[in-house]
Amino acid sequence: MDKKIETLHKKREQALASGGEARIAGQHKKGKLTARERLHFLMDEGSFQEIGMLVVHRSTDFGMEKENYPGDGVVTGYGTINGRPVYVFSQDFTIFGGSLSETHAEKICKIMDLAMQNGVPFIGLNDSGGARIQEGVVSLGGYADIFYRNTRASGVIPQLSAIMGPCAGGAVYSPAITDFILMVEHTSYMFVTGPNVVKTVTHEVVTSEELGGANTHATKSGVTHFALANEIDAIQHIKKLLSYMPQNCEETAPNLAYESKNEKRPSLNSIMPENALQPYDIREVIDEVIDEGSFLEVHKDFAPNIVVGFARLAGRSIGIVANQPAYLAGVLDRHSSTKGARFVRFCDSFNIPLLVFEDVPGFLPGTDQEWNAIITNGAKLLYAFCEATVPRITVITRKAYGGAYDVMNSKHIGADMNYAWPSAEIAVMGAKGAAEIIFKREITAAADPEAKWKEMEQLYSDKFANPYRAAERGFVDEVIEPAETRLKLIHAFKMLENKVVNVPRKKHGNIPL
Ligand code: HXC
Repeated sequence: MDKKIETLHKKREQALASGGEARIAGQHKKGKLTARERLHFLMDEGSFQEIGMLVVHRSTDFGMEKENYPGDGVVTGYGTINGRPVYVFSQDFTIFGGSLSETHAEKICKIMDLAMQNGVPFIGLNDSGGARIQEGVVSLGGYADIFYRNTRASGVIPQLSAIMGPCAGGAVYSPAITDFILMVEHTSYMFVTGPNVVKTVTHEVVTSEELGGANTHATKSGVTHFALANEIDAIQHIKKLLSYMPQNCEETAPNLAYESKNEKRPSLNSIMPENALQPYDIREVIDEVIDEGSFLEVHKDFAPNIVVGFARLAGRSIGIVANQPAYLAGVLDRHSSTKGARFVRFCDSFNIPLLVFEDVPGFLPGTDQEWNAIITNGAKLLYAFCEATVPRITVITRKAYGGAYDVMNSKHIGADMNYAWPSAEIAVMGAKGAAEIIFKREITAAADPEAKWKEMEQLYSDKFANPYRAAERGFVDEVIEPAETRLKLIHAFKMLENKVVNVPRKKHGNIPL
């Protein structure tokens, strides 16, 4: 037995040596951790259990039979993060550049199947040169096996993808299907075709970083939800993100212990600027309302006219969607609509109640918006809210104009509670534009059209630029002092905690895409 155990130890040592010292040094030189180092920082100490450490590839072409490394370029297994189970893979760039072979894919699929069967989140740490070129179609098949499982698991278990090196070609589509992507600045990139192909086909000259680096995807494309300064930061974000989520769609997120204190927030009474055209930062409102320091903003640098993220209210996990008056007056455009819709759908999939702060002047006009399908994209947000069955509450802080009033979680599309601050203006459009249209004749006929316009604007404003017409109809459940917001929300979410909605039987809806 001793000899046999010695053999086992040797094999393990071989696997732990990855692609060898030189390649590990190369990885460190690039400012990257190795696959196992990443797992060391991600998982609770001593909790990680590896599966498939001794798997090797089956390829014999191009002399591949002579080069074989136990593990085949990916470390897979399970363990806990903050005491809660997760399944994880971590690609090892020191072995064939972390490229995906048939067996590499089989290892990933095995833990995906286990994650699904056990109702446990699935995390991928990606660092790979893509399909194993020496293997051809079996590698492509392996990717497809993963995509298929990602899709089956969508809405069943949370799936997180951290990109910690290259992620190119079709390999990008697994992360793209998962719920959240985190990228590391300067050491990771994602693109369907790299700079060389781009140059050949379109004659554009672009670096990898410009084409598909973390900042590009965080600001321009919205592909990544987070761009983090380094790998440790990315790993910390994975842990934090998971803390707001349940393990699967049948559960609710864990509540943190909370002791009720004075829940009034008097500073909110003076947060609104005198002039309704002046901006304020909705994040200041969010920070006052939620449990201190609990906001984890998602998609921070993409479409900043809408703010989305996770928070806690009296210890309970919630998702927040808020118009941001400090950027483009909080207008809804195609990017902010898509960003909001995706977040709403995640929260709804995983039983995370939704809190909406509304201050929106409407949809952004213009050819860019219309030609790039603001109709379809705006419909995504509308559809996502209509479809959501989690507890849903809206607080209208100021403007709720036009179609955007309907879209932003109005009572009409299924919000459970709708509060308005006294500063709320709920109308078809702003008073100036409204007066110009409905009093056109009076304004034109007046001796001083400008003065008449102002007078009519005031008339419209007095009538509609307030929350009371909506409150009289019950479209607003209560007009509240801003200082009471937190208190009211704590009570209302508690009141809604056993909400059940029966949806009509269907295969699945057909969200506008
Ligand atoms: C096999 C690969 C590999 C691959 C890298 N390696 N990519 N082996 N298949 N796809 C190996 C290299 O031979 C090298 O081996 C080691 O990994 C490190 O690679 P380097 O090139 O030395 O590293 P670096 O300079 O950092 O460049 C990384 C890279 C580059 C940019 C990722 O390796 C590269 O361009 N690789 C090919 C990318 C690609 O075209 N992949 C296919 C995409 S299409 P040694 O022995 O020297 O250490 C695709 C389709 C998916 O993925 C389809 C799904 C639908």
